[in-house]
Amino acid sequence: MPNPTNPNPNSKDRGRFQWRAPSNIALIKYWGKKINVNVNVNTDQLPATPSISFTLENSYTEIDFSYERDESLSEFSIESMQFFFENSEQPKFQDKIYKFLKKVEGEFPFLKKYRLKIKSSNSFPHSAGIASSASSMAALALCLLSLEKVNNNSTNDEKEFLRRASEIARSFSGSAARSIYGNFVLWGESEFFPGVSSDHWAIPLSEHLKIHKNFSQMMDAVLIVDSSVKKVSSSAGHALMNEHPFKEGRYQSANKRIGQLAKVLESGDYDEFIEIVESEALTLHALMMSSSPYYLLLKPESLVLMEKIWEFRRESKIPLCFTIDAGPNIHLIYPAQYYQRVRDFIELQLAHYLDKRNWICDEMGTGPAMIIEK
Ligand code: PMV
Repeated sequence: MPNPTNPNPNSKDRGRFQWRAPSNIALIKYWGKKINVNVNVNTDQLPATPSISFTLENSYTEIDFSYERDESLSEFSIESMQFFFENSEQPKFQDKIYKFLKKVEGEFPFLKKYRLKIKSSNSFPHSAGIASSASSMAALALCLLSLEKVNNNSTNDEKEFLRRASEIARSFSGSAARSIYGNFVLWGESEFFPGVSSDHWAIPLSEHLKIHKNFSQMMDAVLIVDSSVKKVSSSAGHALMNEHPFKEGRYQSANKRIGQLAKVLESGDYDEFIEIVESEALTLHALMMSSSPYYLLLKPESLVLMEKIWEFRRESKIPLCFTIDAGPNIHLIYPAQYYQRVRDFIELQLAHYLDKRNWICDEMGTGPAMIIEK
């Protein structure tokens, strides 16, 4: 029954939806933010350079989002929300999510009239080298946009819905902006995509490039070297770029590589793809090692795995390569047709360097999906 005091007669007073949003793996890394003094949704987390990723399929967050309108509420407070992570109440996460929601309250003024129950769970283990902030913040942003749609009976324009979801996800956690779309995704303003790319939201690259069939199904085997919590967070790492001695060079090369990778995705050239992707991973870690203070996230096993991957590539001629995020775990990237041979390679030659022989088999996916709407 619509509530007579609710200004929108089409809106529902209570309901529930569930969004699934996948994580993504960056090929050209987002490392460094534009410096801004005035932190708000529009200026927070603007990238210093554009980045390109592909979205994963099996590594995702599901958020189950229940809402109930309560006319007696006059502001959105922590008492108006309950948060569960993997089915248990987690005050630390609850505070974090509350802060995120407060940050976007201005964008969603109707929030103050709702009681929310948010249940989040991941398909992959914590600290497995897969960015759970990307998948969870993308899922949260999609839930908010869905609530907005219910509440305001707002836009049915799917493109605009996703663009806004990407923008809100970005304000929560930069790389989450890319998790709103499937396949290859670009986030950040790039001279190679004038007029369509933006620092504020991501765009699906397949709408702007004709992706070569060589890249139509890429796999990502996440080789877990160490699953403990990292010593230096990504936010601290981004911040260290502000005064980094090699900052200008890095920003120039990241910009240039967007154009190079875009060309390669169209031409289908595996050798060039491998060179760009591995160089990006090594550059990211070189930047950490040359920050002030310097730090190192790679482990001895990470180096062994890189050497083994080079050796196997030389011998097998299979176009596989690695990328690495801000941690010690190695993402082995390869075309799906080589699945069996790469699997054997991992099991026979790499698994004993891994934490409990653990690795996750993932692949490029089609992006988020709404699973339940009631
Ligand atoms: O979105 P953040 O703030 O967690 O930063 C992500 C940084 C990298 O994973 C290292 C690179 C990237 O583009 O995803």
